[in-house]
Amino acid sequence: MAKKTINDFAQMVENGEKIVYLTAYDYLTAKMQEKAGVDMILVGDSLGMVCLGYDTTFPVTMDDMVRHCQAVRRGAPNTFIVGDMPYMSYQKSDEDAVANAGRLVKEALVDCIKLEGGGPLIASRIRAIQQAGILVMGHIGLTPQLMGQIGGYKAQGRSASAAMKIVNEAKAVEAAGAFSILVEGVPTAVGKAIADRAGIPILGIGAGSGTHGQLLIYADMVGMYDNFTPKFVKKYANVGEHLTNAFKAYTEEVRQGQFPDDAEHTYKMSAAEEAEFLAALAK
Ligand code: KIV
Repeated sequence: MAKKTINDFAQMVENGEKIVYLTAYDYLTAKMQEKAGVDMILVGDSLGMVCLGYDTTFPVTMDDMVRHCQAVRRGAPNTFIVGDMPYMSYQKSDEDAVANAGRLVKEALVDCIKLEGGGPLIASRIRAIQQAGILVMGHIGLTPQLMGQIGGYKAQGRSASAAMKIVNEAKAVEAAGAFSILVEGVPTAVGKAIADRAGIPILGIGAGSGTHGQLLIYADMVGMYDNFTPKFVKKYANVGEHLTNAFKAYTEEVRQGQFPDDAEHTYKMSAAEEAEFLAALAK
């Protein structure tokens, strides 16, 4: 399968085909997702929580993002990859934002970058990055990097005025030059209103069925990340339980001397070489 481009995504929206989007943070997962045929992979700064064990995304650095985007690119060479801009990699200035977005493209070969927020400052960053020739995906609604200001990790746009604010932010992000927008954690009516009014693909995570595509954090949907599970997650597997059971079985077998089985899991030596070796040890 050839890697999809912005033209393919525009065509999918036109045809009413849903865009399939998942997060990945490492080579193996990216390889499986490409094999499964997902359209787009996000190397999210959620890697801070899912892979690095932090409580929030704030400590994630540009170096973390570059390293994980590189691994995902190696695993999914033919999939459109979005690299997330971590906290404080774009907030300071347009110049900083362009330089850091450029790192993700140049060092990790991502196809697009994503940044959070919908106000005038973010519009300026989107414009600057876009003018440097880099595709930008906006991210509005529940924006974890603004957790303090939005009052925690909770759904946004649940009153008419809050919903209108998000619809207007979507318009501003599109006008600033984003090629697509991710809308997170809003009621279905808000996700649909944004998608119906946009001229660009609108992806949703916890934004209902009315958006042009869906994103989930892969570790949530396969049952690996169990610190907390947002309401909008559907679990398609319980990989965490399978892995824990495998680790338990291995622990038990090593302790009982059942693994390795020398008839099956070890290298052989010819009888003659073994006899010579034992004789040498005995000298
Ligand atoms: O970092 C991430 O995975 C994200 C999603 C939560 C939307 O930005």
